[in-house]
Amino acid sequence: MSVHVERFAGKNVVVTGAAQGIGLAVARRLAAESARLTLVDRSELVHDAAAELGAQAIIADLESYTGAEDAITAARGHHGRIDVLVNNVGGAINFKPFTAFTAEEIQAEITRSLMTTLWSCRAALPTMMGQGHGVIVNVSSCATRGIHRIPYSAAKGGINALTASLAFECADAGIRVVATAPGGTEAPPRRISRGTPALRSDREKEWFQAHIDQTLASSLLKRYGTLDEQAAAICFLASDEASYITGTVLPVAGGDLG
Ligand SMILES: NC(=O)c1ccc[n+]([C@@H]2O[C@H](COP(=O)([O-])OP(=O)(O)OC[C@H]3O[C@@H](n4cnc5c(N)ncnc54)[C@H](O)[C@@H]3O)[C@@H](O)[C@H]2O)c1
Repeated sequence: MSVHVERFAGKNVVVTGAAQGIGLAVARRLAAESARLTLVDRSELVHDAAAELGAQAIIADLESYTGAEDAITAARGHHGRIDVLVNNVGGAINFKPFTAFTAEEIQAEITRSLMTTLWSCRAALPTMMGQGHGVIVNVSSCATRGIHRIPYSAAKGGINALTASLAFECADAGIRVVATAPGGTEAPPRRISRGTPALRSDREKEWFQAHIDQTLASSLLKRYGTLDEQAAAICFLASDEASYITGTVLPVAGGDLG
């Protein structure tokens, strides 16, 4: 992996959901590029990542506004300002046809994959406005057009809408708001579960497999991406190299535009 060594030197960067997966890959790349890092996660495993990277760790559940506000207040306290916020928390929990979702399951997907980012943006923007600058990178998904995770698709569609509209509203305040839309991404087995129930029946296994088959079929490159491929796009958008880009959702999905 080639690295642009100084893109984040002197910048205070907050990454949410940084204990594993895409968030951890982003944190590793930012650390390699000299960012002053704050890693937010609700898992204690974030302490391992922070120790590895010389970062500050904050334990917080971003599914409530109080959790997001406390995390942002603590992050600002560590470094005095927030130059970049990467809203990475999210992820589909259930994989099945929409009519098999209960009302509680639908709510849980929206809470996990839309509200966490909405709360974190609301909590961080006053700090960025006070500074007169800031960058927010939201992690969306190309599952905005996909099967068997419709509430998650709807949540990520919301991420795309809030990215475009916040960019519009906050441009005069010197704040860029951008997003990536990852496709299927290879990763080691998750140490922290999303809470996806075990697949019990053949029918549930078929429902799960169908979303993988659809993801591959929708990608022109017919493969999953890597964590590094996702982190590279997120870090580019977070950096000053992307200073003329705002309100944009960049698909990182082998040609699947979501
Ligand atoms: N992995 C993929 O194939 C893929 C594809 C498209 C989009 N994405 C998106 O990329 C992002 C990261 O995905 P991933 O697969 O690396 O995730 P993951 O499930 O592997 O890790 C998510 C991290 O967020 C933390 N987290 C979850 N809920 C939280 C909460 N309420 N408060 C604080 N921390 C919380 C978890 O502890 C974990 O460390 C998500 O937004 C996901 O929707 C992932």
